Amino acid sequence: MSVNILAIGDICGDPGLNFLERRLKGIRSEYNIDFVVVNGENANVVGITPRQADAIFRAGADVITLGNHTWTRTELQPYLDERKRILRPANFGPQCPGRGIEVFHTNFGDVCVLNLLGRFTLDGNTDNPFVIADGFLEEIREKIILVDFHAEGSSQKRAMGYLLDGRASAVWGTHTHVQTSDAEVLPKGTGYITDLGMTGPVHSVLGIDPEQSIGKFLGDPPRRYESASGPCKLEGCIFEIDPETGRCLRAEGIRIQ
Ligand code: FE2
Repeated sequence: MSVNILAIGDICGDPGLNFLERRLKGIRSEYNIDFVVVNGENANVVGITPRQADAIFRAGADVITLGNHTWTRTELQPYLDERKRILRPANFGPQCPGRGIEVFHTNFGDVCVLNLLGRFTLDGNTDNPFVIADGFLEEIREKIILVDFHAEGSSQKRAMGYLLDGRASAVWGTHTHVQTSDAEVLPKGTGYITDLGMTGPVHSVLGIDPEQSIGKFLGDPPRRYESASGPCKLEGCIFEIDPETGRCLRAEGIRIQ
């Protein structure tokens, strides 16, 4: 019997969080979802607070992953140490709070989730995510292994997919907030998509008010990012996985409005 893993793209601000709260439980039952991983690092537009992380868990997420805005809200740091279901990228320095890899016990077996951060245009003060991933995948013994690679470059993300093909059950990209059309099963059995997309306002620039974004590119002085308003969407990818082998049988991008 196969299991369905749902990976959900970056939650953008209050609109994205409210939409997740309203819809995730229904999506879980409609699509027969067994396990949900949500990228939450934009729940506070930039970063995430403990209150917002709690809300994502209450909405029905099993695991939250993060990215380049992990440290924006300093009150998150003790929360990262206390809660094993929220992960920050594993390639931050070992002195950082929290963890980047964890094993979760489920009724269909143990699930290992790994969160990594790309270095191209992002926080360069991290270890090489490819070397880190390669090392972890040598050690991990769980059958189901899920990897969120929070990165800017599509080349990096596809290279990570192939590096881990046949070794991880699913590898997906986050951070760029635009869903890519390459949901697929790679040749050796790893489910893959370059970017899950985002959860938040449909009419926005990556979740942000378009007027503000246009102003920024026209040269306006910097100001705090504001979420766009209007109807929302939830984007992500469903990976159907054989828990006996850890292989992905099907990968399908979803967009729900
Ligand atoms: Fe990001």
